[in-house]
Amino acid sequence: MSDKNRVHIKGVGKYLPDKILTNKDLENIVDTSDKWITTRTGIKQRRIADDNTASSDMGYKASKEAIADAGLKPEEIDLIIVASITADMFFPSTACLIQKELGIESVAAFDISAACTGFTYAVSIGEKFVKSGQYKNVLVVGTEKLSSITDWEDRNTCVLFGDGAGACILSESKDDNGILSSYLKADGNYGYLLKVPAGGSRMPATHETIDKRLHYLKMEGSELFKVAVRRMEESIKISLKKAGLTYSDIDVIVPHQANIRILKAVSRAINVPVEKFFINIQKYGNMSGASTAVALAEAVKQNFIKKGDIVVLVAFGGGLVWGANVIKW
Ligand code: COA
Repeated sequence: MSDKNRVHIKGVGKYLPDKILTNKDLENIVDTSDKWITTRTGIKQRRIADDNTASSDMGYKASKEAIADAGLKPEEIDLIIVASITADMFFPSTACLIQKELGIESVAAFDISAACTGFTYAVSIGEKFVKSGQYKNVLVVGTEKLSSITDWEDRNTCVLFGDGAGACILSESKDDNGILSSYLKADGNYGYLLKVPAGGSRMPATHETIDKRLHYLKMEGSELFKVAVRRMEESIKISLKKAGLTYSDIDVIVPHQANIRILKAVSRAINVPVEKFFINIQKYGNMSGASTAVALAEAVKQNFIKKGDIVVLVAFGGGLVWGANVIKW
């Protein structure tokens, strides 16, 4: 493609499991209340995938919708990038499993691990492949079955997360719309704030790791809260600057959905009204790598995003990782 042309999002898709777990349902599982969850997080319900559904199954369904939305056939996809922290298994990659389901050949496929910022990272990586001319149509998927790593005895975390998948197609733009800038950052010094301790090469599965519940997600919530606000503000500020824009140019912010109070604090910090933030946390909770992907798909389908809008995708998550993409829609 020409150096001058941008890479844009040609289609979007999503998939959410049917089963709804409400705050009321959680009151029967742990010592919590609808009032606490609603006021402290903004979440009212979340979706939970059934035992036969893995991240690749949800990712496949979101992918099919995104490919159709882009007006493409599956065989026109030449690269698949999947962002997930709940891959079906260590390997093969979830991207390869989705490729198999899509029934497409002659395609490259790989996963990335950047937790809740995974979709933002993957969009930026995909853009580079289209920009370089190596691939024409890149399928980017954020898919998570967080219920599979949630400790249903830990009220500090189990009320926060949900399952789902979102996807988009990146292709060369025919006009001046497309990705204007990306900003990606990481700091492993704070990795301890959010992690699944066991199951990897440092602490392989044993009876003891299972007895100690070390295969479940652990989080230091209030510490993360402060960092999240700071890093999301930084991501929006620097990505806009790289695009030659300012806060007043923003039409829509599609943020990672971890906590409504985080989003309101970011809104105050950058003085952009919260009405410009697309928020669906009340329906789905935090879906890590799928959150921003699903929010983008819904924002487009609900006409919250319109042609020509300046849109900022912004996320923050375990790693720690944070970043943003600025897109002219
Ligand atoms: N129901 C009822 N009470 C609960 C509860 C629940 N589900 N979870 C925690 N509490 C209690 C705590 O035990 C604590 O009680 P104590 O004061 O008696 O010790 C009290 O509520 C306050 O806990 P705290 O952790 O200070 O609450 P908070 O206001 O920080 O809210 C989070 C907790 C997790 C909602 C919030 O910190 C958060 O959203 N953090 C960021 C999460 C995040 O971004 N995660 C992922 C990054 S992508």
